[in-house]
Amino acid sequence: MENRARRKREHIKYSLILEERLMRDVFSDITLLHNCLSEVNLEEIDISTRLQELKLKKPIIINAITGGFPLAFTINRELAKIARELGIAMAVGSQRIALRNKAAQKSFKVVREVNPDGIIFANIGADASTEEVLEVVDMIKADAVQIHLNTPQEIVMAEGRKKFKGTIEKISKIASEVKVPVIVKEVGFGIAKEEAKILADCGVKIIDIGGAGGTDFIAIENMRNKKNAVPVLEGWGIPTPVSLIEVLSEVGDRVDIIASGGLKTGLDAAKALALGAKAAGFAGAVLNRLIKGGPLALKKYLERVERELIYTMAMVGARNLSELRKRPLIIEGRTYNWLKFRGINIKFS
Ligand SMILES: Cc1cc2nc3c(=O)[nH]c(=O)nc-3n(C[C@H](O)[C@H](O)[C@H](O)COP(=O)(O)O)c2cc1C
Repeated sequence: MENRARRKREHIKYSLILEERLMRDVFSDITLLHNCLSEVNLEEIDISTRLQELKLKKPIIINAITGGFPLAFTINRELAKIARELGIAMAVGSQRIALRNKAAQKSFKVVREVNPDGIIFANIGADASTEEVLEVVDMIKADAVQIHLNTPQEIVMAEGRKKFKGTIEKISKIASEVKVPVIVKEVGFGIAKEEAKILADCGVKIIDIGGAGGTDFIAIENMRNKKNAVPVLEGWGIPTPVSLIEVLSEVGDRVDIIASGGLKTGLDAAKALALGAKAAGFAGAVLNRLIKGGPLALKKYLERVERELIYTMAMVGARNLSELRKRPLIIEGRTYNWLKFRGINIKFS
């Protein structure tokens, strides 16, 4: 157990170092079309959204980060306070460390204690059994559960899992047996349309694409294990805007999609929502603000993200997210070429 806690501490440490190197704008290939005749008053803008039956006041989510040891308790408590104050949904990190371990549960349960009425997502890996999923949901009285896919990380991580058979069957069982909404999420390597279809056919109704361009767990594992590092594999994965459009084009009509992976600003969120995402998840940027600047800096940051989203909506003339989705956007560069090569018609909505 101690090893797992140490690994989680190291993930935080190295993700902060990585965050400093990440100046890339993941949505630089996407431009929203300015509307010079916008008649939208700022106060009439409604940014509420839905993920299946869950109503979210805001389309911004604090994505899964941590839990299971003392520093994680403080991080989760502060994140939960801010989520409550701002009315945004948040996920906890993987709860595997807390299965049948009362001491480790404290750092997850604090999120529900601090924010009794908030929208909170449980989290566990795709190797979990249905019983384990039910346990993590119950632990924090979660409104939904994230099932994370992180094969590249497991492969590269010295102590990681090396066997992956049976994942699809497990997900299918979880999707049919767990009563709260199931969100299948990547952790920063993205999801292609082929796998999105398999997930939708398994009965998964919410997918978080967790695209490449933000937190890179191969880079993090390389920093943890320099002796056996595989730097050539850093940057692996499907870039966030590409993965988002791939998945929307294939299952956007039957699955709610969350965009994440390298999102930093409200303009990023606006572009993701305009493409068709129902919400936008932020992990590395949130952790970085909290650790380096403290809770007040994080709160100010998230308020700015919201402001940037609302201003952008006003500038394109969108009063709500469905109007934002109708606004034309321009796709250029690598994203355009990728979609063209893959035969994806971006006019899918
Ligand atoms: C320190 C750290 C720990 C994380 N732990 C988890 C986890 O336990 N479960 C999970 O699903 N995702 C985890 N993630 C992944 C994030 O939820 C997210 O999918 C990923 O970081 C990409 O988003 P970002 O670029 O905004 O960071 C973690 C991310 C960070 C930075």
